[in-house]
Amino acid sequence: MLNLTDINVNDYERVVRIEDDTTGLDGIIALHNTNLGPGLGGTRYWNYGSEADMLTDVLRLSRGMTYKNAICGNDFGGGKGVLNATNVTDKNEMLKSYAEAINQLNGTYISAGDVGISTEDLVLISQHTDHVGGYTIDSSAPTAEGVYHSIRAALSVMHDGADQATLRGVSIGIVGLGKVGSKLLMLALADRAIVTATDASRDTVRGMHVELRKHPGCRFNSARDDNLIKQRQLVYSPCALGNMINDDTKEHFRTAVICGAANNQLQDDDTSQWLVDNKILYVPDYLANSGGVIGIADEIANDISNTPARIGEIYQKAYDIVAESWESKVGAQLVANSVAEARFTSN
Ligand code: NAI
Repeated sequence: MLNLTDINVNDYERVVRIEDDTTGLDGIIALHNTNLGPGLGGTRYWNYGSEADMLTDVLRLSRGMTYKNAICGNDFGGGKGVLNATNVTDKNEMLKSYAEAINQLNGTYISAGDVGISTEDLVLISQHTDHVGGYTIDSSAPTAEGVYHSIRAALSVMHDGADQATLRGVSIGIVGLGKVGSKLLMLALADRAIVTATDASRDTVRGMHVELRKHPGCRFNSARDDNLIKQRQLVYSPCALGNMINDDTKEHFRTAVICGAANNQLQDDDTSQWLVDNKILYVPDYLANSGGVIGIADEIANDISNTPARIGEIYQKAYDIVAESWESKVGAQLVANSVAEARFTSN
């Protein structure tokens, strides 16, 4: 039987434990802030060790979605779902009861995909609830475009506001050649940037070399991940996992700009301050990678006519935040947080 139990958490609008012992559903949905609209954020399906681990993850992720939706101009708040894969024997049955749990939140939470949830899973969920999005678009393409615009914006700040129309001749190191990183690589190479890239999977790197043989003239090298951090390059672009910029790695960077798609790139807000103190321009991750959630929000609203223009606006938003950070010497993450808070607290 499906059970929803509220958990009281300070500064969160609603946190709900969802369980169904007949289907193995074991998860939490968190709504951080819905001032701008229903909480929109993906569902993560993962082997969690405990309820406490699930709670930590869903609180951090739902709060992040409030900031991401606010900064990119979506009329959505921050929400997220986490599901424990540990005791699930039939994922489809479990997802059906998850859809029913979402229904019981009466449209205050809208789910999309995240780690462990495929497009097929979202389609299945959509057959049992209307409160789901992101299954008719591939969000990695608009995400890569947003990162591309953000890199150009940071380079423009570096050049005192001179327009940076392309990445021609710019040296870029991309870590992670998955759905987003591979598309960013193609955008950069089309501009004739000088790209070095790496991926934990050798097969992925090999596949990229094969693909690029079809594009003579591209300047692409592959490297080991730790070499890429130490390489002298204009732009370092983390497009794999979070926490790549931390106390162990930050001293090694030989780069002017850090901008990529990965969520939670910085160890903490102090790292953002360290970057500006050390003259490295940083585009806050949740702005740089907001192209995907812009695409999903427009899909939910049934109007994708403005999506390309809205993704293009990431350029100016990134420019303004990086420029203000540079001038005020306040970490870019903190500047971005203030901009986002001003939007979602004023509603
Ligand atoms: P993906 O799973 O398709 O690709 C990630 C790639 O990183 C894989 O090829 C993997 O082998 C590689 N990788 C993992 N650890 C690595 C390491 N230590 N060093 C080098 N490579 C490593 O994921 P996707 O969709 O490309 O997303 C990339 C990042 O962007 C993730 O952090 C994701 O959360 C974030 N993001 C993705 C969005 C999307 O629409 N796909 C939207 C917003 C953020």
